[in-house]
Amino acid sequence: MSKKLVFSGVQPTGNLHLGNYLGALKSFVSLQKKMDCLYCVVDLHAITTFQDPKELNLNILETTASFLASGLDAKKSIIFNQSSVSGHAELAWILNCVCRLGWLNRMTQFKDKAGKDKEKASVGLYIYPNLMAADILLYKATHVPVGADQKQHLELSRDIAQKFNNDFKVDNFFPLPEPLIQKNISRIMSLRDGTKKMSKSEDSDYSRINLKDSADEIVKKIKKAKTDTNPITDNIKDYEKRPEAFNLLSIYSDLSEQEIQKTITEFAGKNFSYFKNQLSEKLVETISPIGSNIAKLLNDKKHLEDVLKKGREKANIIAEENLKKIREIVGFV
Ligand code: AMP
Ligand code: TRP
Repeated sequence: MSKKLVFSGVQPTGNLHLGNYLGALKSFVSLQKKMDCLYCVVDLHAITTFQDPKELNLNILETTASFLASGLDAKKSIIFNQSSVSGHAELAWILNCVCRLGWLNRMTQFKDKAGKDKEKASVGLYIYPNLMAADILLYKATHVPVGADQKQHLELSRDIAQKFNNDFKVDNFFPLPEPLIQKNISRIMSLRDGTKKMSKSEDSDYSRINLKDSADEIVKKIKKAKTDTNPITDNIKDYEKRPEAFNLLSIYSDLSEQEIQKTITEFAGKNFSYFKNQLSEKLVETISPIGSNIAKLLNDKKHLEDVLKKGREKANIIAEENLKKIREIVGFV
């Protein structure tokens, strides 16, 4: 049995939003109380689509600030950025040679991100999942908290780990990493379209609540959030065809740490404007302190750089120890 170890990553590609918080960051924070954890700002993943260097630099610090503002503690968890530990790129190369073309061809995120003109996508975007497998396996991590959109990538990481262990006849060398996906709310949807996930890349800022949004912005966005003309009912089945209403009710439930059934019973018969006021209040209560903390932390870039540097040193020790063994297994001299 491998020692329990948590690894997860977030791309520094812009403002973090409520989906990142409820789908990932919130569980990062609760896990750090129970297990050893590594949390990584995955800047090598970010450049699979072009990033302006100045913006990337700032986004790495801002993502670090968002980790800390959400409650991660650099004394408890190892917080670092991916490009500072060269082992990620080295192991990714080895795993590129383990992973099969057919496996990558099934990845839906590549299809979504590459769009219609696949020929123009970077090669990095195509082999993105292998780098993700390398992130996890470099530390022999056993548990990976992610949003539901990353489930397929996690399954691929397990297949790659298994094939490496088989090919090189090293039973259980890499543990098969387990995804930790929130049960009640694993995918926060856009506030404009309940069938699309909330994302950094959607054009309209009204589609998401950013961690840095002011209380006024949060209230305005919830007021404008799409709903439907039906009242709130207390039969969960009614929401199968009402994705926007279901999304808002799920967000409220998650913020209140209660089951969705309790929420719909609480609001049954009320109209959406009443419900939206209550939801805004909950959101402001949770998100505003995080936003102001991010702003505060960004005033001291030196401190953020220092957190990353210390994290890098700790991560690199584990990475180098594992890489030494991996190089031996592969047969490098
Ligand atoms: P990314 O911003 O793509 O690097 O995602 C960072 C983490 O947030 C990953 O674990 C994602 O699965 C999670 N995440 C991103 N968007 C959402 C969403 N709309 N709902 C739930 N989790 C999400
Ligand atoms: N691909 C993940 C995302 O877009 C980010 C990520 C990179 C990650 N490496 C990882 C998540 C390793 C978990 C573990 O959300």
